[in-house]
Amino acid sequence: MNIPLFDLKAQYNTLDEELNNAVLHVLSTTDYIMGNTLIEFEKRFSEYLKVNHSISVANGTDALVITLKALGIGPGDEVITTPFTFFATAESISAAGAKPVFVDVEKDTFNIDATKIEEKITSYTKAIVPVHIFGQPADMDEILSLAKKYNLYVIEDACQAIGSEYKDKKIGTLGHAACFSFYPTKNLGCAGDGGMIVTNSEKVAVMAKALRNHGSGENGQKAYNLLTNISMEIPVGKSDHEDLFNPLKYYNYLIGFNSRLDTLQAAILNVKLKYINIWNDKRRYTAKFYNENIINENVVKPLEKGSRKHVYHMYILQSEERNRIVNYLKQKGISTGIYYPIPLHLQNAYKALGYSEGHMPNAEYLSQRTFAIPIYAELTENQRSYIVDCINNFR
Ligand SMILES: Cc1ncc(COP(=O)(O)O)c(C=O)c1O
Repeated sequence: MNIPLFDLKAQYNTLDEELNNAVLHVLSTTDYIMGNTLIEFEKRFSEYLKVNHSISVANGTDALVITLKALGIGPGDEVITTPFTFFATAESISAAGAKPVFVDVEKDTFNIDATKIEEKITSYTKAIVPVHIFGQPADMDEILSLAKKYNLYVIEDACQAIGSEYKDKKIGTLGHAACFSFYPTKNLGCAGDGGMIVTNSEKVAVMAKALRNHGSGENGQKAYNLLTNISMEIPVGKSDHEDLFNPLKYYNYLIGFNSRLDTLQAAILNVKLKYINIWNDKRRYTAKFYNENIINENVVKPLEKGSRKHVYHMYILQSEERNRIVNYLKQKGISTGIYYPIPLHLQNAYKALGYSEGHMPNAEYLSQRTFAIPIYAELTENQRSYIVDCINNFR
């Protein structure tokens, strides 16, 4: 039996007609830039998370960069985050001009160890970026209380965690802003790149809307007014969403980005958003099955901490025998993935930060032992059982 780590074809096959119609509708209306479907998607995303503003952007990395800039974070500032994450988390901090400061992770949840954050806070620290890694929320109570104590922003990197919950609240609504990715393999993925910023702050929303679109138009001017504390009259334009033919796009107030989400991607996401709870429940079902049935002293199963709802973007095992087990599973037709082989503080790109081996022992330990096995909504009973049997038979 061959089981891929992700199976986008299987997902497409369950929704092909709906997705094809949604895409064809956008093509027939030619509403490609900031179209009505995109406005509807942003509205539905806000309703889903129960948040005031959703600002779609081109990808999750841009969501992070734009959010940092919207909060005024830049050169001279430090931002605390985890070294056990996808590179984009720290890269976005650097791209905004600030310095990432790493804090080691917990060995059992893979999330930033909130008890180690305080010792890294300096007079330059402006924000904490917790990552809800693999779909499990970080320790938000502790993080939010530190942020309050030291007057820091909290930006949730929720790129892997749509739908997950912390104490019955959806993640993405806990900090000052949160960022999502719609990379195709994410729990909610589009047909290419896509991302979203969510916030309850009117100010952050205005800044983010301006920054994603060249600092232009009505949102550009609103942002400019906010920054300069003046209230220049805002020309009456077409709408808040500056579409293809909006003349105001040639009036620029800030240095921003071209980071809009395509209407075509929004149309796909609009279809898929309807299914996200069902898909996440299926992932959780598979995780429960793995938790209850994988029994092999060579592997350590992931921990779902109390009062958190994990959405299992990835199901991560640990093993001292990682190379052997990964190769064995490959021979059995089961694909695996290694997340993450090099913690960010040891990446070549971050040599200048001066970290070396031994600085983040837990992240380094995990980078030698973790691997992901297949988990997605379309996984069949047969596939699940086969994966468990193969792992249990590994010696
Ligand atoms: C934790 C994390 N942060 C940021 C990103 C960046 O998102 P994107 O690939 O959409 O730019 C990703 C996803 O790839 C991610 O997993």
